[in-house]
Amino acid sequence: MNGGHGAHSYVKNSSYQGGVLEAAKAIIEEEIATKLEISTNSFCLADFGCSTGNNSFPAMHTIIEAVKLKYKSSYLKTPEFYVCFNDVISNDFNTLFNSLPSNRSYEVAAVAGDFHGRLLPPSSVHFAYSSWALQWLTEVPKPAVGLHSPAWKGGKRLYGVKREEVYEAYLNQFEMDLESFLKCRAVEMVKGGIMALLIPALPTYWDPRKEFTVASVIELLRSSLVDMAKKGRLSETKLDAFNFPYYIPTSEQVWAILQKSNSFCIERMEIMKSGTLLTVDGHVACFRAVHQNMLTHEFGAETIDESFDTLKKKLRTSPVYANPSNDKTLVVVAILKLKNV
Ligand SMILES: C[S@@+](CC[C@H](N)C(=O)[O-])C[C@H]1O[C@@H](n2cnc3c(N)ncnc32)[C@H](O)[C@@H]1O
Repeated sequence: MNGGHGAHSYVKNSSYQGGVLEAAKAIIEEEIATKLEISTNSFCLADFGCSTGNNSFPAMHTIIEAVKLKYKSSYLKTPEFYVCFNDVISNDFNTLFNSLPSNRSYEVAAVAGDFHGRLLPPSSVHFAYSSWALQWLTEVPKPAVGLHSPAWKGGKRLYGVKREEVYEAYLNQFEMDLESFLKCRAVEMVKGGIMALLIPALPTYWDPRKEFTVASVIELLRSSLVDMAKKGRLSETKLDAFNFPYYIPTSEQVWAILQKSNSFCIERMEIMKSGTLLTVDGHVACFRAVHQNMLTHEFGAETIDESFDTLKKKLRTSPVYANPSNDKTLVVVAILKLKNV
């Protein structure tokens, strides 16, 4: 979305097997070449929600190489680069540090903590990056608790809360969380710097009988847990109280929230097909990596293998997953800059 065009006029296919970065690479490179307005000897990047680094290292490399080019073409001395890797305190930072690329041209620091709060000094970050992390919510919204309990009948809950209210509550929580994230980054970023956000998104309409999205895999994981609870393999009471703490927005919702920001303006926003082209095994591996800790904490380590085996069976028996190109998941790539206020 450039200069306020309709959200879906820019859907492109990244046709990439290894992640979402390739979808955004050209955009990030172009934006650095044309919009970065920073002249410094020490350039600081921060990756918010970096996980153990697999996808973060190539992203930081792409950004740094583009900044080096920009400095070279402006006859400026190449700065020193510093990367702050942020994730939650329980993240496996040891794995990240043990797998740092040996030929990297930057110094590193770990910044452990919730990115909805302040993490870095004021005016210290020249490039802020976050990929596939902002869908995580700070909490499950209240009306969602018990959403999957037997008390739900035909889309209506027996205590007066409607399913639509639950989705509304998730969207509100997503909006509040994204606003908190932006407010904190507004303090931490240097004027003239760039923020690139890669956020998974759902198309407004898709046919679940023929197509799937990341949201469908989440539903199947939930239904795997329900099967296990029915067999007495995990606690039904715990499952009833459990909901995944994330929200996958539509691109229109992301646009609406970002353009309300008092601190940032949208320089560019494009909607890409995620293009990850995952096989069934790929989906299971990816979901296991992301959810294992959370589900171990909720239901116990002994439930994990069976939960993901059940998910694999469900994916295999669903014809929709036979062809990876049925995946309609989108990625919003939003490039933001601080407003001149
Ligand atoms: C799906 S992974 C994405 C990892 C990586 N950025 C990528 O593109 O592959 C999401 C990461 O965001 C992190 N995360 C979620 N909520 C967070 C928060 N509030 N503060 C910091 N990190 C968070 C998770 O711990 C997880 O490592």
